Amino acid sequence: MLKMKDTYVVAVVGATGAVGNEMVATLEERNFPVQKLRLFASDRSEGKMLKYKDTDISVETLQENSFEGIDIALFSAGAERSKIWAPVAVQSGCVVVDNSSQWRMDPDVPLVVPEVNPGDLKWHKGIIANPNCSTIQMVVVLKPIHDAAKIVRVVVTTFQSVSGTGQKAIDELLQQTTDLLNFREATCTVYPYQIAFNVLPHIDKFLENDYTKEEMKMVNETRKILGDESLRVTATTVRVPVFRGHSESVNIETEKKLTANDVRAILSNAPGVVVFDAPHKNVYPFPVHVAGKDETYVGRIREDESIEKGINLWIVADNLRKGAALNAVQIAERLIGKA
Ligand SMILES: NC(=O)c1ccc[n+]([C@@H]2O[C@H](COP(=O)([O-])OP(=O)(O)OC[C@H]3O[C@@H](n4cnc5c(N)ncnc54)[C@H](OP(=O)(O)O)[C@@H]3O)[C@@H](O)[C@H]2O)c1
Repeated sequence: MLKMKDTYVVAVVGATGAVGNEMVATLEERNFPVQKLRLFASDRSEGKMLKYKDTDISVETLQENSFEGIDIALFSAGAERSKIWAPVAVQSGCVVVDNSSQWRMDPDVPLVVPEVNPGDLKWHKGIIANPNCSTIQMVVVLKPIHDAAKIVRVVVTTFQSVSGTGQKAIDELLQQTTDLLNFREATCTVYPYQIAFNVLPHIDKFLENDYTKEEMKMVNETRKILGDESLRVTATTVRVPVFRGHSESVNIETEKKLTANDVRAILSNAPGVVVFDAPHKNVYPFPVHVAGKDETYVGRIREDESIEKGINLWIVADNLRKGAALNAVQIAERLIGKA
């Protein structure tokens, strides 16, 4: 378990990736008490120099003894790497905050959004899982409504940016856009079809039930974080040609009737949430507006007129920040008693 100190040796595993880069920036911006920062990635990046504050840090590859002397490791190098290396890190006495899907549904691993279920950090055994990006921004908004009126059903459709897939997808959208605007053909490597000027109802692999893995992550992770297995959730996850920021149309049904104004009042006091909702003045959140911001924005709050106790919400957040790096750093801050 983590010993309280003034400063900590911190590692970022997957430091050269879209999330890893943001983790390094977030540690710096939030002035995390870092004694030493170690950066890891694949052998493709060995020796590459990355900036942290005023220092250049050389990227290392992972070895059996890499985690010796490291207090906290933030992992964002994919599930396969987390499966192998997170237990190695724990064995070396390190606490792991893991961004991948590898440990999220393990009953021995807490799945934490600090504004929602910080109490679950108490029972960690060395690994704490960071939820899926689309789930994080949704539960930050649902939690206070659930507490006030008990949500019984959630229907969510997402509009997810390409940075949710990683750096290669960011490059692919840029390249395809450039090629198509220059009358060249688009080449598809990351996604099965062109993503520039297109919309794909397909995120992660298709499962036996014809949902995608991403959709079922939203169902199962939402229940685990809110601690309510009875909650009915159905999701459709869609990739859109946006670089940064996920949007979600969320319809909820509650046990207790809430008006749109009740929901605005509840969410106005919710930690990490900004109500950005004045439809008649064209005030609503969108990805370009939230990119680089820490909070989850919610707008288009209105009653669902097709049912007795329903509310529609439009939820937008920066997937690389609250959806990944910021949530992980916030977990680390809780672990060291900084938040
Ligand atoms: N993007 C998001 O919004 C988001 C949100 C939540 C969770 N996540 C999760 O975070 C993880 C990383 O996502 P990303 O978007 O940052 O992907 P990414 O841009 O593709 O970055 C992947 C990182 O993993 C490293 N890596 C690959 N193979 C490795 C190995 N064998 N040993 C050590 N490092 C290795 C890569 O290093 P090289 O540069 O050397 O290849 C790179 O630093 C994934 O598990 C993803 O599901 C992402």
